[in-house]
Amino acid sequence: MYYIGIDLGTSAVKLLLMEANGKILNSISKEYPLSFPHPGWSEQQPEDWWNAVCEGIVGLTENFDKEKVAGISFGGQMHGLVILDEKDNVIRPAILWNDGRSTEETDYLNQVIGKDKLSSYTANIAFAGFTAPKILWVKNKEPENFIKINKIMLPKDYIAYKLSGTFCTDVSDASGTLLFDVKNKCWSEEMLEICGITKGQVPKIYESYDVVGKLKPELAEKFGLSKEVKIAAGAADNAAAAIGTGTVGDGLCNVSLGTSGTIFISSKKFSVDKYNALHAFAHADGNYHLLGCMLSAASCNKWWMDNIIGTKDYTKEQEKITNLGENHVFFLPYLMGERSPHNDPNARGTFIGLTMDTARTDMTQAILEGVAFAIRDSFEVVKALGVKIEKTKISGGGAKSTLWRQIFANVLNIKVEILESEEGPALGGAILAAVACGEYKNVEEAALKIVKIVDTVVPDEEIAAKYEKKYTQFAKIYPTVKGLFQEIAD
Ligand code: XUL
Repeated sequence: MYYIGIDLGTSAVKLLLMEANGKILNSISKEYPLSFPHPGWSEQQPEDWWNAVCEGIVGLTENFDKEKVAGISFGGQMHGLVILDEKDNVIRPAILWNDGRSTEETDYLNQVIGKDKLSSYTANIAFAGFTAPKILWVKNKEPENFIKINKIMLPKDYIAYKLSGTFCTDVSDASGTLLFDVKNKCWSEEMLEICGITKGQVPKIYESYDVVGKLKPELAEKFGLSKEVKIAAGAADNAAAAIGTGTVGDGLCNVSLGTSGTIFISSKKFSVDKYNALHAFAHADGNYHLLGCMLSAASCNKWWMDNIIGTKDYTKEQEKITNLGENHVFFLPYLMGERSPHNDPNARGTFIGLTMDTARTDMTQAILEGVAFAIRDSFEVVKALGVKIEKTKISGGGAKSTLWRQIFANVLNIKVEILESEEGPALGGAILAAVACGEYKNVEEAALKIVKIVDTVVPDEEIAAKYEKKYTQFAKIYPTVKGLFQEIAD
């Protein structure tokens, strides 16, 4: 049988058609607009996602035996606030994971309600990108919209709802709402009350590999698919990417270089770091994970290449970089503020160390290194928890760059494993659909059978030592300019 994985990303939706044994038959991508109506705001139209998904399903399956499609599932951008009225109309554009508008509400939650209480209710503290501060923002700034809210959902859940009619979410995505008691995998009554909402307005919770319903008959007809196609709950994009890279079970690591950059540590035990610098979330394999998230990762490189130096030939730009560990330029990659570990929506992108002989190559290199150093910031938190990580997988668009993989291996000073097919959350989604339809006993078994490592990048002792010194210097820059970012924002 065939399974469709839908990765509802920030710049595009990617759909993948997989055979039960993991063979990828086809994949397709459809872009949609992203709007920044004010500095630090980030929005998308759920209807754009839906249209792209519909076109994608048709395009993905057109040359294949459609009757063989048995299941559909998802990986989705996290934390986004989608609100529907009682007629199921979208009330306002979705407020996305990288939107920093809710600083006041975030401060209220962290300081007035208090981080300790938040952590005891949800295992996490408030970050501007999380869903609960956004709900409070709508309540405070758009009361006319707040009173219309009938259903609150996350981005991929909007697609699951449109496809199946089931108002649902999964444990990994619910974890990023700050409304969810991660340890006990249920909505936190306290948090719902703090946000002024009720249980009737939030979706039913499922494990990521649970079947939530069937494809609506009218859609089955429209797509030419069977009416028996099952829809599985799916997962947050990072959890789905972790499944798609075999980061399941205990103590494995995945670094994802998409629009955001994340470091994901799978764990069979629920745990929280003392300062809540990392997110403590449920995993799509039935267990838990820790997550560090930087808001701009591959997007820093895209911004630099496309918007600033004006080239599409990323490989050619990177070929000129040969002096790993010796760059005199540093870059703080905080183009959308920063989440982990600084939790500072006012932080901004910054070059430091420019001289008269700085070349464009040095600045390109500083961008790639700045992103790796920022992931290392979260990696330091993981190490401080006593978790021993000796290797990582790498995924996302940025992982296609051999240079960037090398930089990561040396900056983190661990082995970086390269996968046969780098399909990230879309593959994770397809695997979840296959598990939901009974092709595999569980997610761990499926991921271990399907995901294949083809190469390993080993750190070079000399280069890693140079980067160690550079990282120590990098780590001092943000604390030095932090006050200034605040002053500029005021
Ligand atoms: C994770 C996060 C991002 C988005 C990107 O907390 O905000 O990785 O999920 O889609």
